[in-house]
Amino acid sequence: MTKSTFSQTTDTVLSLEKITVFRSGRMILKDVDLEIERGEFYGLIGANGVGKTTLLKVILGLIKPDGGHISIVTDPEDKRPILGYVPQKIQFEKEMPLRARDLVKLGLDGHKFGIGLFDKKSRKLVDEILSAVDAMEFGDARIGELSGGQQQKILIAHGLIANPKVLLLDEPLANLDLKSQQEVINLVNQLKIERGIAILFSAHDMNPLTNVMDKVVYIANGKTATGKVSEIITSETLTGLYGYPVDVLEHNNRLIVLTGNETEGLHHETVNER
Ligand SMILES: Nc1ncnc2c1ncn2[C@@H]1O[C@H](COP(=O)(O)OP(=O)(O)OP(=O)(O)O)[C@@H](O)[C@H]1O
Ligand SMILES: [Mg+2]
Repeated sequence: MTKSTFSQTTDTVLSLEKITVFRSGRMILKDVDLEIERGEFYGLIGANGVGKTTLLKVILGLIKPDGGHISIVTDPEDKRPILGYVPQKIQFEKEMPLRARDLVKLGLDGHKFGIGLFDKKSRKLVDEILSAVDAMEFGDARIGELSGGQQQKILIAHGLIANPKVLLLDEPLANLDLKSQQEVINLVNQLKIERGIAILFSAHDMNPLTNVMDKVVYIANGKTATGKVSEIITSETLTGLYGYPVDVLEHNNRLIVLTGNETEGLHHETVNER
């Protein structure tokens, strides 16, 4: 049975129990269990098409699961929204007449902060968040004219401005060069440390994230394994997940998952490019 509940406990902010999703009659996710605690950095790792976006959309309530249970933990004293979201791959037209700061402001609840007008309170909040993501310099530029890394920072600011407890980021490293990838990772990790925001960060290459991830949700073959990187990224666990022999190699501080003919994790440009 699918049901969302709201309850109050200590550190857990979000938990999924046995989430199962079918799309067009095909099973995409089966019995996914996940518990996210305050201030925890989760990597959501898997190859193209395994169901990372699907899982994030289930958490957001945009896809109704065919089975399982989602619990969102609320605290009556804390009025912050639970979820912030940085969607996968948005293509902005260069000429689109929308400034970066206007996009960030759209992340605010219009009813609370006044609709349309750039009132004092929302301007201050936008400035604060632009500064937190190191984007003040280009806050007044048109969104379509910014580089991929700058746009990603603006999208993170948009997801953050309402001060959520959990930030869901869908492949925020896609199409970024290595320097911009590192900047985005450092920024998100800093938000986790300084604001105690829990992070669920999807990627098809786990290597850039291995130093910051507290835990990993690895999806393969419709199944998931969840836990610390050292527990999950092992030949034994991944062989169980894929259902056939998988090797995990460590080379130059990179984890390489070898699955039959396919190689995952060698380099993000060599595998699973979109
Ligand atoms: N609306 C839909 N109807 C039917 N099938 C869908 C739909 N959306 C996604 N799928 C299928 O569900 C599977 C999971 O898709 P999803 O987008 O969640 O994968 P992903 O892990 O996010 O992939 P990527 O790394 O490419 O973003 C894919 O096989 C996809 O074709
Ligand atoms: Mg996706």
